[in-house]
Amino acid sequence: MMPTSEVPSAPLDRGQRPQILVIVAGSMAAVKAPSALRRLREAGAEVRVIATRAALEFITELSLATAADGPVATDESWFAARPTAQHLQLAKVDAAVVIGASAELLANAAHGHAGDLASATLLSVEGPVLWVPAMNERMWHHPAVQHNAATLRSWGHHFLGPEVGAFGTQGEGKGLGRMSEPEDIAAAALGLLRPVKQDLEGVRVLVSAGPTREYLDPVRFISNPSSGKMGFAVAEEARDRGAEVTLVTGPVNLLSPRGISVVRVETALELREAVVQAAQTAQVVVMTAAVADYRAANQASEKQAKVAGDVTIHLTPNPDILAELGQHKGGRVLVGFAMETHAGIERAAAKAQRKNADFILLNYPTREGTSFGGDDNQVTLVRPDATYEDWPRLSKREVAGKILDEVLRIRADRG
Ligand code: C5P
Repeated sequence: MMPTSEVPSAPLDRGQRPQILVIVAGSMAAVKAPSALRRLREAGAEVRVIATRAALEFITELSLATAADGPVATDESWFAARPTAQHLQLAKVDAAVVIGASAELLANAAHGHAGDLASATLLSVEGPVLWVPAMNERMWHHPAVQHNAATLRSWGHHFLGPEVGAFGTQGEGKGLGRMSEPEDIAAAALGLLRPVKQDLEGVRVLVSAGPTREYLDPVRFISNPSSGKMGFAVAEEARDRGAEVTLVTGPVNLLSPRGISVVRVETALELREAVVQAAQTAQVVVMTAAVADYRAANQASEKQAKVAGDVTIHLTPNPDILAELGQHKGGRVLVGFAMETHAGIERAAAKAQRKNADFILLNYPTREGTSFGGDDNQVTLVRPDATYEDWPRLSKREVAGKILDEVLRIRADRG
């Protein structure tokens, strides 16, 4: 299964039936909508439906209405209902799901267009939004579509699929593009309604993420392929659990998540300055940043010309930020990451001791599914006393959740 939703979140404290808005968009996958609607209703949700004009080319209003609670809203009903703002009424829901999400609807939502009922409602929806895309693999991978999906994710929207399988009107498509199945859609939508535990409410969490760049001259630097995704996942998970989050990140290709104070830096020295500053008020520090161990001893102020033959670069060690925080730890919980190719547990435990970290997440860069830039991670939690827990391969958001669970256990133990 390809990019699945992050851990869903939306506080829900109503005694009545949860209300879910299902937007059915124009794709062959629209025929799966009634089954998803039925499952949501069976689970106790009250389901309202909007069908886009294109959706009604694939499925009748009647088939959708029969599976929903009440009539289907369409562009026609929107205009007919005026001056009543039907989109604002439809938007008052606990969660919204877009079934058969098209490139156009993603683009509308990412750019704030409101020219049809579905798009206008998406701009006003109060609860979390789950996108269930169905589109041709090439369209899904187009940078415009990926950019729009990334924008929506950065606003906290969730995604389920697309998945690998046969799709299209004639089953002509094979590969990525198939929409998720109705039972998975219903489960993910109901998951959005799960009350989020606000167990980090008021806790100040500092996260570092991404690589650093160590400049040799103004246009050349030493760096590493860290994507920053793990650190962003920790920051977002902490935010959703009620923490006040500061995220200090090296250069990454990720948009700033909403509700998080983001500081963007380039070099290890800049990262150190920002982290040390923010750590003063933080109660939890999670250092996921892949800080370069060395920087150029003498950074040239002008671009260095090519010379014949070998060149030697003189490197000097960067300060170890985590170790520095460990020396003035106070009551903070300190978490580090370590990448090892051999003797992982031993080396990570020694590192945790040396840096005075409460625990270290050990990554194996050579292990499948844990490569740089992926959406999953498989890590081992290692404590300074060399006790450890092997965690299965999980989404980075799930790993983030488990890290924060351990942080809370340590805080509770300290009383
Ligand atoms: O020693 P090593 O680089 O393997 O340790 C990794 C951990 O230490 C990570 O949590 C990383 O963010 C942190 N670190 C640091 N400053 C450095 C190098 C690593 O804070 N200069």
